[in-house]
Amino acid sequence: MTQTQNQEQQEKIRMPRKSWMSSRLMQARKYEKQMENAVAGEERPSFHLGVQIGWMNDPNGFCYYNGYYHMFYQYYPYAAHWDPMHWGHAVSRDLLHWKYMPCAIAPDHRYDKDGCFSGSAILLPDGRHMLMYTGVDKEYVDENGDICDPSGEKGGVLKDIQTQNLAFGDGCDYIKYIDNPVLTCADLPAGADPAHFRDPKMVLYGDGTYRMYAVTYVRDVGGTVVQYISRDGVHWSFKGILDQNNFRIGLMWECPDFFELDGKAVLMCSAQDMLPAGLEYHNGNGTFIMTGSYDDETGKFTEEGDHAVDYGIDFYAPQTILTPDGRRVMIGWMQNWDTVNLRTFEPKWYGQMSIPRELSVKDGRIFQKPIREIETFRRGKISFRNVSLDSSERFLEGIRGRRADIEVTVRAREGEDIYRCFGIRFAQNENLHSEAEYRPEEGTVKIDRKCSGSRRAVVHQRRCDAGTHGGDMKLRLILDRYSAEVFINDGEKVMSMTLITPQTADAISFYAEGMAQFDVDFYTLDRI
Ligand code: FRU
Repeated sequence: MTQTQNQEQQEKIRMPRKSWMSSRLMQARKYEKQMENAVAGEERPSFHLGVQIGWMNDPNGFCYYNGYYHMFYQYYPYAAHWDPMHWGHAVSRDLLHWKYMPCAIAPDHRYDKDGCFSGSAILLPDGRHMLMYTGVDKEYVDENGDICDPSGEKGGVLKDIQTQNLAFGDGCDYIKYIDNPVLTCADLPAGADPAHFRDPKMVLYGDGTYRMYAVTYVRDVGGTVVQYISRDGVHWSFKGILDQNNFRIGLMWECPDFFELDGKAVLMCSAQDMLPAGLEYHNGNGTFIMTGSYDDETGKFTEEGDHAVDYGIDFYAPQTILTPDGRRVMIGWMQNWDTVNLRTFEPKWYGQMSIPRELSVKDGRIFQKPIREIETFRRGKISFRNVSLDSSERFLEGIRGRRADIEVTVRAREGEDIYRCFGIRFAQNENLHSEAEYRPEEGTVKIDRKCSGSRRAVVHQRRCDAGTHGGDMKLRLILDRYSAEVFINDGEKVMSMTLITPQTADAISFYAEGMAQFDVDFYTLDRI
């Protein structure tokens, strides 16, 4: 590239000047610098993305840009609780080694003064990186939804005004678009509540247009996914309603994602206030997935079936991307809104993401596997074959640790009755432990962290339907310092939970009620 071409390119990209930074963004970046070393490496997850300092919730703007994966996230740097949302930012080459970048956006305009809520990112043809996020502005509004003076005649109630906004950047610095907001409640369908219009997920659609899926709440219907279309990524218009809840799964829906996978259209949303249905949807707030078909003429998604994405305790608001080599990879927030405010101590950081998971669809169900790059972290393989358990517990030579990848295959002992239960106990010492166990007669897998060190009476157990299979079962357990994720039968179901257990509790054992036999391959997971 010649110097003039280079200059032209730079001008087109309009690199942000530091002076464009608001005092709130500068303050956040300064605070991050000050606190850079406040949390030691061993005090945070090893290969899961956790917040640098303060609070983290939803993944935002998950994308691949200029040779790096970028992950932004809902972020409040100054304390480990939810407060006016900023966007934190980290980059990675493999989705496992993450490098923190400076805070990307802060609530510094009228339209987002009460928070920069969740959103997404795309690459523009001119090389710019563009974010779209929900701006929240709390105002007193009258019965027509118009902003009013609360002390005046009309009184008014304090409500969120949620709008969609853009910011352009270069992978580090982002400037908010001068004509924000680009979508307001005027762009919502009839009956939609303007206080609920959020979480835009943009994609480049097959016909070259950009599409954006967001959520709203429609009277008598509940969570509704709305679709918008744009030629340039900047000017958007309403395309239609993609799908609606009709109060089947929770009330409001949040954080939509919509993509094609293995010949199916897949809609993923996180529902608030769910009612359990059998062993589905026990999380209060949880993520569901629907497979089906999509007709772009009508802009409608036709559902064929739905199920939970994660049957554990901690998983919400995931986003997916298509990697350059064609994998659909999902990362979720590994927490649960129902438990986040029930903590005994305020830590220096709070919030981490799930392990990135490769998705596939089989027989209308979503399968998840830990991203294959995790295998490069495997060290010191230890294998045992045909280990017998007879209503007993066994510790096996060399198998211990808090960062591990454990693959277990269990079966009934030949000629014996089917075992009643088989389990793995981990993050264990004399007083503490957590476990994952399979009961073939009931066909359930249960995770349990009630003895993990929590001093709160929140839910610490969860079960899911895993089938009987004559007692044949495969479990893969990914342990990081502060979490456990259980992949059942090659990822047919997944159960995730966070742990606060001290790292010194690192024993691992296997137990059974009845006679079981198992094989195990154990690896320590070590970052290089
Ligand atoms: C989901 C969510 C989003 C919102 C964000 C606010 O967890 O409630 O709908 O954009 O969190 O932090």
